[in-house]
Amino acid sequence: MSNFFDFMNIKKGEIENLITMAEKFKRGEILDKPLKDKMIGLLFNVPSTRTRISFQAAIKQLGGEVATYNSQDLQLANKESMKDTATVMGKYLDGLVVRWYNMNDYGYGRNTLNEIADSSNLPVINALDDKDHPCQILADILTLKEKYGENYRKKKVLFTWGYADRKKSPGCTHSMLTAASILGMDLRIAHPKGFELDNEYLSFAENAARQSGANIEFSNDLDESIEGVDVVYAKAWGSLSLPGYEEQKYKCDIKDQWLVNSERFARANSDAYFINPLPIIRGDEATADIIDGPRSLMYQTAENRLHVQKATLTSLYSR
Ligand code: CP
Repeated sequence: MSNFFDFMNIKKGEIENLITMAEKFKRGEILDKPLKDKMIGLLFNVPSTRTRISFQAAIKQLGGEVATYNSQDLQLANKESMKDTATVMGKYLDGLVVRWYNMNDYGYGRNTLNEIADSSNLPVINALDDKDHPCQILADILTLKEKYGENYRKKKVLFTWGYADRKKSPGCTHSMLTAASILGMDLRIAHPKGFELDNEYLSFAENAARQSGANIEFSNDLDESIEGVDVVYAKAWGSLSLPGYEEQKYKCDIKDQWLVNSERFARANSDAYFINPLPIIRGDEATADIIDGPRSLMYQTAENRLHVQKATLTSLYSR
């Protein structure tokens, strides 16, 4: 791996190795410092709590130095080009972790990541763009593996759209779809009409599932699709097709139909778990009793972000 943007460009064995390495980091079995004498920059144009802080901690714990650059603090704010910015960063740093997107311009985030990698000549990790959030999904899958062992692949995971006021990236959804299809998982994605995923990801998943034996299903009805599932993963994402004003009104109209509340959660298996990557507003994607309830795995998943970041950084820098 020279960059880590998505799961479409890495092999099944590499994903499994990252998860296994993250488990070892969590158990304290790896003490290597592959980032000794290395300086990693975090470049963000939108807010972050978990990704930013878990990378900061992971880089320090792997022996490296870290600095965070918000785009507004750089000359980017005065219209310096990303090409010049990234080229110069490449002269000072040993790697970049980048969160960059504008959901009113789908594709701009990924194009920017490519430009940063090309201009800087540094290893670049995607910390969420408009297409993928692979670091988050690695942490989610690690959590599922902790709960179910290798049997996690046989558990029915419902990944459902939920309401958010903001137009959020479909990165988690695309990354879960691709990872699940490569790893041979049993995944059902539910979303309202108008919130379809990028065709490139749908085609990739179809082909990958054929090879891995994954079961990937889609639904436009949360009440039906939550029936008998083992995991309910609620996540908002923005429409790739609806005009902004139309999407905003439509989302408000359908919010209640897509809310994970106790009545709906009771239709899942009695021992089902709830996952959300955070941040979450109680009452938007799910109600507080589910979010803060005994079946919620969201803090365990947030903790696992640290261990998968260490695995990803080690994989990039131990070669
Ligand atoms: N889940 C996640 O990426 O959280 P942040 O946006 O806080 O980094």
